[in-house]
Amino acid sequence: MKVLVTGGLGFIGSHICLELLSNNFEVLVVDSLINSNSLVIDNINKIVSQNKLNVRKMRIYEADLRDECKLIDIFREHSIKESSIGAVIHCAGLKSVNDSVGSPIDYWANNVGGTIKLIKVMEEFGCNTIIFSSSATIYGVGDGGLINENATINPINPYGQTKAAVERFLKDVFYSGNQKWKIVNLRYFNPTGAHKSGLIGESPKGLANNIFPIISKVALKKKDKLKIFGNNWDTKDGTGVRDYIHVMDLAEGHILALKYLNNVKEEFLNINLGNGIGTSVLELIKTYQESNNVEIPFEFVGRRKGDFGHVVADNSKAISLLKWKPKRSIKDMCKDSWRWNLLYPNGYV
Ligand code: NAD
Ligand code: WQD
Repeated sequence: MKVLVTGGLGFIGSHICLELLSNNFEVLVVDSLINSNSLVIDNINKIVSQNKLNVRKMRIYEADLRDECKLIDIFREHSIKESSIGAVIHCAGLKSVNDSVGSPIDYWANNVGGTIKLIKVMEEFGCNTIIFSSSATIYGVGDGGLINENATINPINPYGQTKAAVERFLKDVFYSGNQKWKIVNLRYFNPTGAHKSGLIGESPKGLANNIFPIISKVALKKKDKLKIFGNNWDTKDGTGVRDYIHVMDLAEGHILALKYLNNVKEEFLNINLGNGIGTSVLELIKTYQESNNVEIPFEFVGRRKGDFGHVVADNSKAISLLKWKPKRSIKDMCKDSWRWNLLYPNGYV
C-alpha cells in the first residue's frame, strides 16, 4: 500500500516513515521543510541500510500543503489504480504553543488551511483514509485524573484551537456522506525520545520550549540550568506531571491505526496515544541524569502561564481497539534522546 505522509521529514513524521518502510509500505512524503531539514532523508536511508531492511524507495516532494496545484500533481502522478495513494498520515503543521499566540493567522492558515486543501484533493482523487496528528492540548484540562477521549474539548491557545478545528472539520467531512471516509484523530500526549540509532530525532528550527530539548541543552552545557515551572502543583512532588511517550511507540501506533482502518468500511475515531503513566519534572530529571551520567542543574521558578499540573492519558482505547501497547520506558526516552543529541548537538544544522 502507498501511504502519503505530510510533514514526513519532521520529528514524528520521520519516525513514522521509517516504521512504514519497515512494515513494507510504500512511502511518499510532502514537506515544505519549514521546520525540518532534507538531511533527514539521508539518515532514514542510512538506518535502512544499517539494518539491512529490504524496503521500497521513499519519494520526497518538497511542497507546501497549501499549494493545491502541487498536491493535485502528486495525487495525479500516483493515480493509476493499483498504485494510487491508499492513505494519508497527516503530520504537517506548525506546533509551537508560544509562537501560535503571537502568530494566530499563520497557525490557522497552515494547520487548518493546509488540511482543507489536503482533504479537498484527497476527495477529488478518491483517497478517503486519513490519520491526523492531533494533540492532547485540545482537552485544556489537567487536574489529576486520566484523560479519556470523551473529555471536554477546550483548547486554551491558538495552536490547540487549530487542532480542535481540524478534528471538527474532519468530523463534518465524515458525516457529509460524500464518500466512505476512514478517519482517525490520534491525540498525542508528550512525544519524545528518538530512534535508537541516534540518526533521527527532534530538531526544531526555532526556540525550543518543551522540556526534553531544554534538558538536552542543559546536559550539553549550552544552558546553565533548567527552570522548573512550579513546585506547588497538586502532584506527587509538586512539579508538573506529564505522559511522555516514546516517538517509536507513537510511530507504531500509526501503523496499527492504518491496519485497523484497512479492515473497516468507514470510521471516525478519536484515540489517545500516551503511556498512561505520569512522570513529574523531578522524576524526569533524575532518570535523565542517571541514565546518561550527566548533570541537570535546576531551579524552581513560578508556574508557566496556561500550564497544568497533571496531564496523563487514559490509553485504554488504543490498547483495546488498535492492539497497541507502548513498550519503551522513560529511561529509554532519556537514553535515546541523549544519543541523538550527542550525535547532533545542534540538530540538523
Ligand atoms: P515537526 O515540526 O518536527 O514536523 C512537522 C513537519 O511538517 C515539518 O517537517 C514541517 O516542515 C512540515 N510542515 C509544516 N507545515 C507544512 C505545510 N503547510 N506543508 C508541508 N509541510 C509542512 O513537528 P512534530 O513534532 O513532528 O509534529 C508532527 C505533528 O504532530 C504536528 O502536526 C504537531 O502539531 C503534532 N503534535 C506534535 C506533538 C509534539 O509534542 N511534538 C504533540 C502533539 C501533536
Ligand atoms: C512538560 C512539563 C512544564 C519546560 C506541550 C504542548 C502540547 C504538546 C506537547 C503539541 C510541564 C515543565 C517545561 C521548562 C518546565 N505539543 N517544564 N520547564 O506543556 O505538556 O505540552 O508539548 O501538541 O501541545 O503544550 O510540554 O514539554 O512544555 O512541558 O518545568 O523549561 O515540563 O511545566 O510540567 P506540555 P512541555
